[in-house]
Amino acid sequence: MSISIFPIVSNFAAEVGDIDLHQPLPLDDLQTVRDAFATSAVLIFPAQNLSPEQHLAFAANFGPIERTVAAMLERQKLRVREELADIANLDADGNVWKKNSRMRQIQMMGNRLWHTDSSFKAPSGYASLLYARSIPPIGGNTEFADLRAAYDALPVLTKARLKGMVAEHSLLYSRKRIGFTTFTDEEMTAFAPVRRPLVRTIPESGRESLYIASHIGRIGGMTDEETETLIEELITHATQRQFVYAHRWRVGDLVMWDNRCTMHRGREFDDTRWPRDMQRATTSDRLNAFGVRETGQDATADY
Ligand code: OGA
Ligand code: MN
Repeated sequence: MSISIFPIVSNFAAEVGDIDLHQPLPLDDLQTVRDAFATSAVLIFPAQNLSPEQHLAFAANFGPIERTVAAMLERQKLRVREELADIANLDADGNVWKKNSRMRQIQMMGNRLWHTDSSFKAPSGYASLLYARSIPPIGGNTEFADLRAAYDALPVLTKARLKGMVAEHSLLYSRKRIGFTTFTDEEMTAFAPVRRPLVRTIPESGRESLYIASHIGRIGGMTDEETETLIEELITHATQRQFVYAHRWRVGDLVMWDNRCTMHRGREFDDTRWPRDMQRATTSDRLNAFGVRETGQDATADY
């Protein structure tokens, strides 16, 4: 049976059916997924049954896999392999985290801010693929905002003002927003800001998009206060209801999004009570010398 694409939000979110990701995809099916991903920046693959290796193998079709920053930054024992970001509320022994744990403060608070994954890395993040192994009975949705539609809806004068602006992204800027203010020299070096345009064109669709996130801390030619005001204004604009899709998770959902033109955030749930076991693979936005996206697990990125 050939795979099917059901639009959920026109030109933004779609469900991909009749597809089994635990084996390599036929080339035609992969092309169908790639084409759908150019239009719909959020794709949902329900009812998958994936090992970590199968999850990573599918992700590698969309670029070199990043390694998680947790090992370097927190020096914590990892529960999952280092090519997967552990988004669960579980400690290394598999127990639900405690209310005051540092991991909870950093990961949960950080993921509840509107953000893109790895806009602070060079190269930045392209596709994130988040897989649900267990979910809470209520809450814990993930919301996605369409930054292309949000850009299209801006007044013409605002568009003209934003074009050409350059923003600095760093993980340390978003950490500051959740109350972490002191960083070691090692962290300052590892997360030195990267510069990205505030408006970008997505090559596959030719659509223009905002490129904003809570990782932005400075914009060229603006004071910190002006930057803060503008970023807050743009995030408020881009996350209005009409630009947002809220995903209610089911076990076995794999959700893939394009970090170049979306923001997302995790929503509240009773996180010291229910396990929510989610793992994410993220690929780097890297093209080879021929302008073709690098793929394949051999290309694992070491950033
Ligand atoms: C992520 C993320 C939010 C959530 O996986 O990158 O931000 O709902 N997740 O878990
Ligand atoms: Mn994220």
